[in-house]
Amino acid sequence: MQLLSPVKLGRIELANRVVMAPMTRSRADSQSDMPSQIMKDYYAQRAGAGLIITEGCHPSAEGKGYCRTPGLYTQAQQAAWGEICDAVHGRGGKIVLQLMHCGRVAHRDNKAAGVRTVGPSAIAAQGKIYTDAGMQDFVKPVAMSLGDIEQTIADYVAATKMAFAAGFDGVELHCTSGYLPAQFLSTGTNHRDDQYGGSLENRLRFVIELITAMTVVGGAGRVGMRICPGNPFNDLHDNDHCATFAALLDAIETIGLAYLHVIRMPKIQDNIALAKAHFSGPLIVNDSYSQETAEAALVDPQISAVSFGRAFIANPDLPLRFAGNRPLAEFNPRLLYSPGPEGYSDYPMSR
Ligand SMILES: Cc1cc2nc3c(=O)[nH]c(=O)nc-3n(C[C@H](O)[C@H](O)[C@H](O)COP(=O)(O)O)c2cc1C
Repeated sequence: MQLLSPVKLGRIELANRVVMAPMTRSRADSQSDMPSQIMKDYYAQRAGAGLIITEGCHPSAEGKGYCRTPGLYTQAQQAAWGEICDAVHGRGGKIVLQLMHCGRVAHRDNKAAGVRTVGPSAIAAQGKIYTDAGMQDFVKPVAMSLGDIEQTIADYVAATKMAFAAGFDGVELHCTSGYLPAQFLSTGTNHRDDQYGGSLENRLRFVIELITAMTVVGGAGRVGMRICPGNPFNDLHDNDHCATFAALLDAIETIGLAYLHVIRMPKIQDNIALAKAHFSGPLIVNDSYSQETAEAALVDPQISAVSFGRAFIANPDLPLRFAGNRPLAEFNPRLLYSPGPEGYSDYPMSR
């Protein structure tokens, strides 16, 4: 079974190709944004994955959008993440931190008092976001100044340094789903008239500068990026998302990232073909794969691994279940983002 064979993504060595996809589960401390003890249990239980990619983690207080999501911008957060890394490594696993700055996809009730919500332009996302007081309209972001852009890149760099100090095997830039990097790339969210907006070249600038800065910290072989061209999530719109992502991938090709994590969108276009045409490194592919379709995908030599999200929720030992052809358990959707261990770290192993 290809899925269970080892592979190397840049400098990260995986024991198998079953990757756990990043999933926000809202179990961090709501005040300190500290990873919790149950997060340690949850990730340790899933250490049999060839690689765990953590839930989105904000690199600054401003980058927080949802409630009870973890951050990495204080020493205390670094120490707590360090315990999670140790627990996963202690069970033979590998773990990458996903850095997610939500930009305009936020609500003030989900953030510390007085912390701004920022974006490339002052355009609110249409729709509502979950808060503990119920669903509320997205807030209108403050358009970032050039100084804010510089500071935000510095925040990602600081978080990358802290991630390596905590023991993470790598970091992944979340560059889809309507969050800050995607907001800079897209015509619907970026109406700037300076060097970070307007032309395609200008809209790419933030992400290129950001990923380049992140790779300077510990080398490109420990940095991945997640994309999903055409993903309209969180009211994202781009006049030509294929051209945007093709140009982005062309521009970063020579950096030599550890991997590109591609979410397919077959109803919109073939994102895997797009990625292959413009990126020559290893690919992790995602979305709605089964064991069988994942095996078939791995026939392509550029596809190094397949990530599974929902299947890992109720099946902590997913690779073992694949190996033994054991049935997969279903998760309880009502407990996806609820606080506490229920529906989170209490799903049993199959053994
Ligand atoms: C509860 C939940 C939370 C998610 N949170 C994130 C996230 O923080 N970052 C991210 O890149 N994708 C996130 N996703 C998307 C998953 O990584 C993945 O792309 C999606 O579940 C499709 O893969 P699957 O069919 O294997 O579940 C989330 C998905 C779910 C179900």
